[in-house]
Amino acid sequence: MTVVHVLNGPNLNLLGKREPVIYGSATLDDVRAMLEERCAARGVSLVFRQSNHEGDLVTWVQEAGQSGAPIILNAGALTHTSIALYDAIKGANASVIEVHLSNVHARESFRHHSYISPVARGVIAGFGPTSYLLALEAVLENI
Ligand code: DQA
Repeated sequence: MTVVHVLNGPNLNLLGKREPVIYGSATLDDVRAMLEERCAARGVSLVFRQSNHEGDLVTWVQEAGQSGAPIILNAGALTHTSIALYDAIKGANASVIEVHLSNVHARESFRHHSYISPVARGVIAGFGPTSYLLALEAVLENI
């Protein structure tokens, strides 16, 4: 069975409470439930994880990448700082779709640069939880 990995970085555990004007009222569990429903309908398996620690995300990207599984990655602020995640994606030859709830390009300039984008298959930003669903549709299209 195809496995899709959805990996979430720092502070995304606070979704629903965190800056709701920017990130909305849906929680990370709501996002997980939405994706689980879609995956079940398509007969694919979902691995959904969140960590506030860069090393966890590096390990998960390596594992998923080496197993050949597609990854939907919202690296949170690590998007803008993490050469380690860039190296992990390249090193494990991981197939990554970068997602963001907010439109990072309409926000502070430090959010305009991404270390993930150059090694991602594509980027989806600005649609709230729907960003994840759009990324999942892109993944499912390729299965
Ligand atoms: C985010 C955007 C990042 O700039 C921010 O640091 C986050 C969330 C988003 O989903 O919009 O933590 O990745």
